Amino acid sequence: MKTTTVYAWNANAKHRIVVNQGGSSSSKTYSIVQVLIIKAIQEAGKVITITAQDYPNMRKGVLRDFERIMSEPALNAQLTGFNKTNNTAHYKSGSIIEFVIFKDEQDAKSGKRDYLFINECDGITFPVYQALAMRTRVQIFLDYNPTRQFWVHENLLGREDVIIFYSTWRNNPFLEKSIIAEIEQYKTIDENYYKVFSLGRTGVLTGQIFPNWKRIETFTATKNVVIGLDFGFTNSPTAIVKLGEESGIIQGHEICYRRQMSNQDIIEVLKDANPYRDITIIADSAEPKSISEIKAAGFKVLGAEKIEVKEGINFMKKWRWEITEDSTNWEKERKNYIWSKDRDGKDLNVPIKAFDHCFDAARYAFLFQWHGKKLIRVL
Ligand SMILES: Nc1ncnc2c1ncn2[C@@H]1O[C@H](COP(=O)(O)OP(=O)(O)OP(=O)(O)O)[C@@H](O)[C@H]1O
Ligand SMILES: [Mg+2]
Repeated sequence: MKTTTVYAWNANAKHRIVVNQGGSSSSKTYSIVQVLIIKAIQEAGKVITITAQDYPNMRKGVLRDFERIMSEPALNAQLTGFNKTNNTAHYKSGSIIEFVIFKDEQDAKSGKRDYLFINECDGITFPVYQALAMRTRVQIFLDYNPTRQFWVHENLLGREDVIIFYSTWRNNPFLEKSIIAEIEQYKTIDENYYKVFSLGRTGVLTGQIFPNWKRIETFTATKNVVIGLDFGFTNSPTAIVKLGEESGIIQGHEICYRRQMSNQDIIEVLKDANPYRDITIIADSAEPKSISEIKAAGFKVLGAEKIEVKEGINFMKKWRWEITEDSTNWEKERKNYIWSKDRDGKDLNVPIKAFDHCFDAARYAFLFQWHGKKLIRVL
């Protein structure tokens, strides 16, 4: 098993509460999952609970890391089975690792455990944490990106039974260069993002452009359905979202959010999401060559006319938005999508150019469908 320094810190920690604050991709989550797998193998009859804020985040986050780590034959040989109905791994040692989502404080009062890991713990409330902590016998691991102060800073740090480890991508030798470049690019975009995501220091994130929205289980809208596409470039992901209208509300769903996609990759995703090729796709008009390729594959695709971003956002904000629970990257962007300010804190009327990929895709599609097709330049 390959490990990072973050693994060693967590594996050797003796404190009851082990806090991992860090920038993007510093190996916090991966390392803590490794530590817990080793505990499950080496210690007999332990109950280990891993939780996150919701199922989609868990499935694409800790559960995926768990599967990747457990695919190593030596570790897999220690497993006696994985129960898919309750997401529980059983080990020869008699220990189990269960992946559970707790809906609320009441729900968090069910069950007891020896070890607990709350992934991206800023996504759960302090009362839920307390209810879980009270029912954890041995040790608690927490990880998060410090976009702002929250209950870890206010209620845990400074206590004798709490240790905090600070990490950044520099602690992770297993990263691709493009990911490092993307994180480092914050340096030229925004001081606060750089501080949080590259240096892992606590930031102050205020003034979200979309302060909140309802999450829905499935996309059910059938009216005005349209797809928005924002092309990625070397270090940023390609984002594809679907919008539709139901009862005067705009529904949104993240179809794809992936780095280093070729036009052929994008076409494959679109074939899946738009099999009859009847849904209009509005794409970033800065890439006419990509648009022509997608068009040649039989899709109805138009280039978005770029109106002032702020104006577009203001149109969007006149509607109520509901986003599917599966749209985890879009939701992560929402939390970090904020107006840019000058040094005196004065609003500059443009969003900071980060965490904007799903929003750009959605804006192109939205303006086309709900704000007059005249905004569109046909390429
Ligand atoms: N020990 C390891 N062996 C191989 N790859 C690793 C290891 N640790 C981390 N990685 C790779 O680095 C990536 C980033 O690590 P991880 O997701 O744990 O970071 P993180 O600190 O949780 O980041 P974030 O704050 O963005 O959630 C992993 O997806 C994995 O590909
Ligand atoms: Mg993580």
